[in-house]
Amino acid sequence: MLSLDESYKLFEDKKHQADLGGGAEKIAKIHKSGRLTARERILGLLDPNTFVETDKLVMHRCHDFGMNKNKIPGDGMVTGYGKIDGRLIFVFAQDFTVFGGTMSRANADKVVKIMDMAMQMGAPLIGLNDSGGARIQEGVESLAGYADIFYRNVRASGVIPQISAILGPCAGGAVYSPAMTDFIFMVKDSSYMFVTGPEVIKTVTHEEVTMDELGGAMTHNSKSGVAHFAAEDDEQVLLMVRELMSFLPANNMEDPPTKPCTDDVMRQDEKLQSLIPADPNKPYDMKEIITTVVDNHNFFEVQPHYAQNIIIGFARLSGKPVGIVANQPAFLAGVLDINSSVKAARFVRFCDCFNIPLITFVDVPGFLPGTNQEFGGIIKHGAKLLYAYSEATVPKITVITRKAYGGAYDVMSSKHIGGDVNYAYPIAEIAVMGPEGAVNIIHKGKLTEEERAEAVDSYRKTFASPYKAAELGYIDEIIYPKETRTKLIQALDLTQHKSKTNPPKKHGNIPL
Ligand code: HXC
Repeated sequence: MLSLDESYKLFEDKKHQADLGGGAEKIAKIHKSGRLTARERILGLLDPNTFVETDKLVMHRCHDFGMNKNKIPGDGMVTGYGKIDGRLIFVFAQDFTVFGGTMSRANADKVVKIMDMAMQMGAPLIGLNDSGGARIQEGVESLAGYADIFYRNVRASGVIPQISAILGPCAGGAVYSPAMTDFIFMVKDSSYMFVTGPEVIKTVTHEEVTMDELGGAMTHNSKSGVAHFAAEDDEQVLLMVRELMSFLPANNMEDPPTKPCTDDVMRQDEKLQSLIPADPNKPYDMKEIITTVVDNHNFFEVQPHYAQNIIIGFARLSGKPVGIVANQPAFLAGVLDINSSVKAARFVRFCDCFNIPLITFVDVPGFLPGTNQEFGGIIKHGAKLLYAYSEATVPKITVITRKAYGGAYDVMSSKHIGGDVNYAYPIAEIAVMGPEGAVNIIHKGKLTEEERAEAVDSYRKTFASPYKAAELGYIDEIIYPKETRTKLIQALDLTQHKSKTNPPKKHGNIPL
């Protein structure tokens, strides 16, 4: 029988061994690569002294490849719960120092346990990923562990926010769970995501590609659109995750958390009166309108490097979180194409899942023409955005700042697909297409140059304005740009108790 002192010592030793993970040498290697350890990450993420670790002493049960002689308490996965800004959060962090943070049956069970708890308690789940994927020595048991997690990711989707930070090389199964979560953060120069790595690619397709080109932070933030945020280092990611959480409710039954508003709700911004050029072909930066209008000019942009012709992100108006979607005339004239449609559609659906009102700023010349777009399926991808807006039952408030042409007018939160309050600036142009294109089609080959110019002018006066739409009640109110903040806050106030539901169904069939 152990004495009291001996049993306490044994407990201390086991905890210490778990805390050390793969050992001092491997921790030094992690630090040398510019990364933090799993435990350091959790401490950086959560409020001080709130982390409660679960299953700290769990070990793998593999006997093959001599694994029975190589066991580390915790088995390369740190799991538990704690608080961010005083609100409950569940978290797991893969410890790369233990078998490369790989997924075993035992540590998958740890993740499954906290996922089930997160669902039952109605609290968000944050995964800090740094893993070589399925633990090869465990074979199908590891795959089973992953599938148990994937299954829960899907069940939790739209019920609790799920956030992934990719903080090291993540391969195979280690990228599919993040892919099913709501937002993915990456770190420049130290985090990677790929299904198969450069070596396998070289063997199979003979392509030569570096880890960074294949799956680095900027590849996924600017090319593939897989990731939503890129940070300089682990510390910055953790701060960004905390900031993101400040906009989100704990679950789909709650409203997003309001903060006391320290900005003037009646603020009028004279600079907006002249921000949009009278010449419809001249660009301007839509972000200036957004940052001018929102509380304390604080706009938390999502996917700033991807499909920059559309802007998405979170902000507050009168202290209430809102999701903002806006065409960006400063990039590709703000046109809707495949990437921007998919980017915005997913964001609209996220906001709708979690009761976050949508504010849409519209300046869109239409859908991008071209064989690339048509062959790439712009019809089904553009339809995603139309579907997402039509399906969303959260408050939807729209401001047409300048152009709203063609199908893109319908798509961008128009009255017809459930816009609750639809504003337009006096300079807005709402029509099937721009004056030049319209005259070319209606009067094809019938007019002299002079007559053509007159027809363009007449079309512009009659159709390229907000007044036709306002006459028909499709626009509720034409507003001065300087009033935008006040009007949006009024509209949010109006819609705060909005109650609208879609017809009962198993689920819709969004074009994928
Ligand atoms: C077991 C693994 C492992 C794995 C890495 N390790 N990946 N152990 N299973 N999948 C171990 C290494 O043996 C090493 O152990 C330690 O982790 C660190 O790995 P290194 O290679 O030394 O580190 P680094 O050079 O930084 O490279 C990291 C890496 C590379 C890029 C992740 O290890 C790698 O390519 N691993 C294989 C990735 C992969 O193909 N995974 C897919 C699995 S299949 P020691 O003891 O030396 O420290 C999969 C299918 C799931 O996931 C499907 C779901 C849909």
